[in-house]
Amino acid sequence: MESFTYQPSTSAIDDIVAVARDARKRAGLVVEEQQRKDLMRDIANLLADRRAVLVAHYYVDGDLQDLAERTGGCVADSLEMARFGFEHPAETIVVAGVRFMAETAKILSPEKRVFAVENDANCSLDLGCPANEFGQFCDQHPDRTVVVYANTSAAVKARADWVVTSSIGLRLVQHLHSKGEKILWAPDKYLGDYIKRESGADMLMWNGACIVHEEFKAVVLQNLMRRYPDAKVLVHPESPASVIALADVVGSTSQIIHAAQSMSEKTFIVATEEGILHKMRALTPDKNFITAPTAGEGATCESCGHCPWMKMNDLQRLKNVLVHLGDEVRVDEQIRRQAERSIRRMVEFGKQYAPPVPSA
Ligand code: 13P
Ligand code: SF4
Repeated sequence: MESFTYQPSTSAIDDIVAVARDARKRAGLVVEEQQRKDLMRDIANLLADRRAVLVAHYYVDGDLQDLAERTGGCVADSLEMARFGFEHPAETIVVAGVRFMAETAKILSPEKRVFAVENDANCSLDLGCPANEFGQFCDQHPDRTVVVYANTSAAVKARADWVVTSSIGLRLVQHLHSKGEKILWAPDKYLGDYIKRESGADMLMWNGACIVHEEFKAVVLQNLMRRYPDAKVLVHPESPASVIALADVVGSTSQIIHAAQSMSEKTFIVATEEGILHKMRALTPDKNFITAPTAGEGATCESCGHCPWMKMNDLQRLKNVLVHLGDEVRVDEQIRRQAERSIRRMVEFGKQYAPPVPSA
C-alpha cells in the first residue's frame, strides 16, 4: 500500500510560524527587533538620567545581562551581585533577578533606593521557608549554628548566624565544622546534602528545593553523556545527589562559567538554568554547550531548566520601573539590621575565600 506523508510547502510553514509568532506577540512574549533595540536604548538613557545601576543575575534574559554590563552595572552570581550593589556609589540600584536578590541589596544599602524589575519574581526556596515556621525550627535546636542559603526572605536571614550562597556554602560549613559547630541548614535540602557529604559536618536540614534544579534527571543525563563521551558535565549544587554524582565540576553559576572558560574541553553539558548559556557562549564562542535533560525525553515538566521567576524580568518591565520609580523594595528596619549582620559576615568570609570569577 502506498504511504503518504504530509509535507507542507515552505510557504505553509512560513504561515504557521507567522501565526504562532503573532499569537506569542499578542501574548507579549516576542518583542520585535526594532522595538527591542529602542527599549535597550531608552533603558540605557533612563539609567543614566536616574543615576541608577543595573545589577543582573546570569539567569535573566540575555538582553538584560548585556545592558547591565554595557551601562556600568554587572551580571554575576548572587554573592557578587550583593557585593557589587553594596560597593557601587550609585544611589539607585535596579535588580534583575528574583526577590531575595533585591532584598539583599536593600539590606546592605538601606540609604539607597532599590527596585526590582519585577516585585513578584520569587523563588521556590524562599516560598518554601516561611519565617514563622523556620523560627520554630530554630527554637527547637538552640545548640546549632544557623546557616541559611541566600535564597530566603529577609526575615529568615534575620534568624540566621550566617548567610551563604552556593559559591561559598561548602567552605563556610567546612570552617564551622573544623571549629566543632553543629549546623542547622535551610532551605535547600539538595545543596545541604551535598555540603554535608563533602564536609562531613553534622547538619540538620530544612526540606526545601529549587523547582528548576530538582528536575534534572541522572538516567537521561547518563544517556546524553554516552552520546557525547568527550563532554564535561557542569552541575549547580541545587541539583539532586544522583546528578551531582555525574558532575566533573559542581559550583555556583560563576564557578560553572569559570570552569567552562578554564577547561580545555570543547563540549559541556550544563545542569543549571538555561539563562547561563548566554554568558557562556559570549565568553567562549568556540565551545559547545548542551543543556542537561530534565523530566526525560518526551515528558513534560514544570520548569524544564527555565526559572519561571527569573523569566519575569524583561525589557518592558525594566523600562516601566525606571520611568515610574514607584514600588521601592522595603525591609522592616529591625529585620534589616538583624539580616545585615549575617549577610555581612558572608561578604567578609567571601573576601577571604574568594571563588574564581569569570573574566571577559
Ligand atoms: P548562584 O548563587 O549560583 O548565582 O545561584 C543562585 C540561584 O538562584 C541558583 O538557582
Ligand atoms: Fe530559586 Fe531555583 Fe529560580 Fe534559582 S532557579 S531563583 S533557586 S527557583
